[in-house]
Amino acid sequence: MVTKKVEKAINEQIKREEHSSRLYLAMASWAEHNGYPGASDWLYAQTEEERIHMLKLVHYLNDRGGVVVFSQMDSVEQKCKNLVDLFLQVLKHEEFISASINALYDVCTKEKDFSSANYLQWYINEQIEEESTARGILDKIKLTGEHQGGLFLIDKELGAMAVTKRAALVASQAAANTAT
Ligand code: FEO
Repeated sequence: MVTKKVEKAINEQIKREEHSSRLYLAMASWAEHNGYPGASDWLYAQTEEERIHMLKLVHYLNDRGGVVVFSQMDSVEQKCKNLVDLFLQVLKHEEFISASINALYDVCTKEKDFSSANYLQWYINEQIEEESTARGILDKIKLTGEHQGGLFLIDKELGAMAVTKRAALVASQAAANTAT
């Protein structure tokens, strides 16, 4: 059984993960509209990954006897100038999510819910990877500047990264679709 404070904090994180999924959907759509099929594909895959992050928490909270609440979502409108700006927003968002996971971990430890804190370790590790990937992509895009040939190659690389990501997601999806 989780305490009310832990239940509330996990529900807030569920909302953030769901929002992340919608945010990346908007970004993917922007990239698709602006002629970056590889970036778009990577971001569509990221949308699916965030949904898995949300689902894992939904199952966890249900398993621990908590009540899941799906809050009303804010509308998402993607505004960005170019590909650098887009991935700068990805990195900023992942940094925000890392901070929110840390805050959730803090609530769990203060409530002496060590099982939940232990469960969140997966998310803490995941955020290291999420930030590192976003930073790596951003660095590459920054290196090319506005060079069209360079941007073309990076977009192609992002398309290949999307294929790899989707393969990894198949296994995660199967795990997330079953209760913990
Ligand atoms: Fe669910 Fe990208 O963090």
